[in-house]
Amino acid sequence: MSKIIAALVGVLALAAGTQADYVLDDLCLSNECSGTGSERVCIFRFQLDIFVSETGYFLVEGCEDKGHMPTLGMEANVKYIFDQSNKTNWFHPLGFAYAPDGALSGNDELEKGVDPPGGTTCNETLSCQYPQYKLNGEILCDEYDELTGLCADEEDFGLDQYEGVWFSGGRDNWIDAGNFTIEVNITDDATKEIFAFCHIHKYMSFRIKILDTETLAIRAPTDEIALGYEYHEVEGFDAGCGTFNVSQYQGHEQCGDHVFHCNGDANTFNECMAAINCKMMTEMRTSGNSDPTAEFMYQMIPHHQNAVNMAKMLLHFNPGSLKCGTSYDGRRLSELEGPELALYQLAAANGRRLDESFCNDDNDEGGTPAVTMLWEIVNGQNAQITFMRSWLEDNLVPAYDWCEAEDDNSTLVAVLAGCLAAAVVAPVAGYLVYRYKFRKPTATVSAVKTISP
Ligand SMILES: *[C@@H]1O[C@H](CO)[C@@H](O)[C@H](O)[C@H]1NC(C)=O
Ligand SMILES: *[C@@H]1O[C@H](CO)[C@@H](O)[C@H](O)[C@H]1NC(C)=O
Ligand SMILES: *[C@@H]1O[C@H](CO)[C@@H](O)[C@H](O)[C@H]1NC(C)=O
Ligand SMILES: *[C@@H]1O[C@H](CO)[C@@H](O)[C@H](O)[C@H]1NC(C)=O
Ligand SMILES: *[C@@H]1O[C@H](CO)[C@@H](O)[C@H](O)[C@H]1NC(C)=O
Repeated sequence: MSKIIAALVGVLALAAGTQADYVLDDLCLSNECSGTGSERVCIFRFQLDIFVSETGYFLVEGCEDKGHMPTLGMEANVKYIFDQSNKTNWFHPLGFAYAPDGALSGNDELEKGVDPPGGTTCNETLSCQYPQYKLNGEILCDEYDELTGLCADEEDFGLDQYEGVWFSGGRDNWIDAGNFTIEVNITDDATKEIFAFCHIHKYMSFRIKILDTETLAIRAPTDEIALGYEYHEVEGFDAGCGTFNVSQYQGHEQCGDHVFHCNGDANTFNECMAAINCKMMTEMRTSGNSDPTAEFMYQMIPHHQNAVNMAKMLLHFNPGSLKCGTSYDGRRLSELEGPELALYQLAAANGRRLDESFCNDDNDEGGTPAVTMLWEIVNGQNAQITFMRSWLEDNLVPAYDWCEAEDDNSTLVAVLAGCLAAAVVAPVAGYLVYRYKFRKPTATVSAVKTISP
């Protein structure tokens, strides 16, 4: 009976457009569990789709019907393996926190010394629930203690090492390192929901509902903590180009007579290219009234967004010339002869792996050096954008500073108003930067500071 009432309440809540209670069917549950009781282990396998938002969103194998960033259901007192071995995960190490985005938003993460909200006191004995980071099935530690088989530092759970491999040596190095997994066992009875998030890119959190052991009762059927943002949706022109937030520049009217291609855009790839270039040109037009570091970031963010969009476009169109063992004009290298073949062999000998004998990775997402470079642009520059936005936020200056061009008569009034506002805002912002520049660095900044360009 209570189930029927709950279901009715759910339907009414949906009809009223309010937050509905979750039922098990709404959740992505692991379809790979084995063992029972204290031996029970379940697996979630992750993939990243870089085309569905600025930084990409996660998909969980077997839960494709629940879309990107599904809400997971996780049984308490059961070990879960979060498998990030799929190559698409590179540069998106998962973290676990009690509120969205963890340290990137100053929120508590699951750590040995962090008491779960409302839960038992465990921090003094470093016995709180935490994620154990692993590589090829071995625990990761800053320093490993051979005698105990544990990390030498009892607060360590391998996060620094896990992230370290994602930061150093690039994508090939990460792929060669092997199989990255994280193990989480929710043991605190008070924990009702947690969030998984990307430790490098903000706004990539998704919710995990904790289920009671065996009964699978959802501990908090209604969300207790707000995500705080909506997920992006990519459609229309952007979906066709593989880009993010460029659709309004289709046809590049904002850029007037500016010629992007001397003989016209002519094909879809070039139309996409002209649109992203027009977006960058437009959004790199700033008031010019900022402190130099802020001005750098106002210019560099749209510049980087353009690099990311360009790289995503090429990955999306995926022309023959990007494939291993193919010359730039789409012919297989095995068809080449004489001087042409010699040129390609020279390129291969110089480490630009064009020769088919270097193409063993072709089927496992690794791809050619050009593909690796594109992924490095997408993930590396997006991480730098995250850093720059945090810097602007931490220094209490506005997130954007672009303005309309003065030769656009229809917007002249807006420009004047904008510039007037900027003239007032800039000194105030300047004062605030001065006033706060000796602030202690925040978790946001320190969490991303190890990024190398
Ligand atoms: C998960 O935690 C529970 C409760 O502490 C424990 O009984 C179980 O053995 C753990 N699971 C694994 C596979 O270690
Ligand atoms: C990794 O993810 C990609 C993209 O979703 C998928 O096509 C591919 O099959 C996955 N690879 C493996 C080994 O699971
Ligand atoms: C443990 O947590 C409590 C309450 O959250 C706090 O007062 C105490 O200082 C913490 N102890 C340690 C060792 O972090
Ligand atoms: C990675 O580890 C997981 C969990 O141990 C395992 O299921 C998976 O098959 C491994 N993947 C690869 C590519 O070795
Ligand atoms: C998309 O770009 C516009 C400017 O072209 C900006 O105002 C808006 O905030 C961007 N949207 C997202 C979701 O980033």
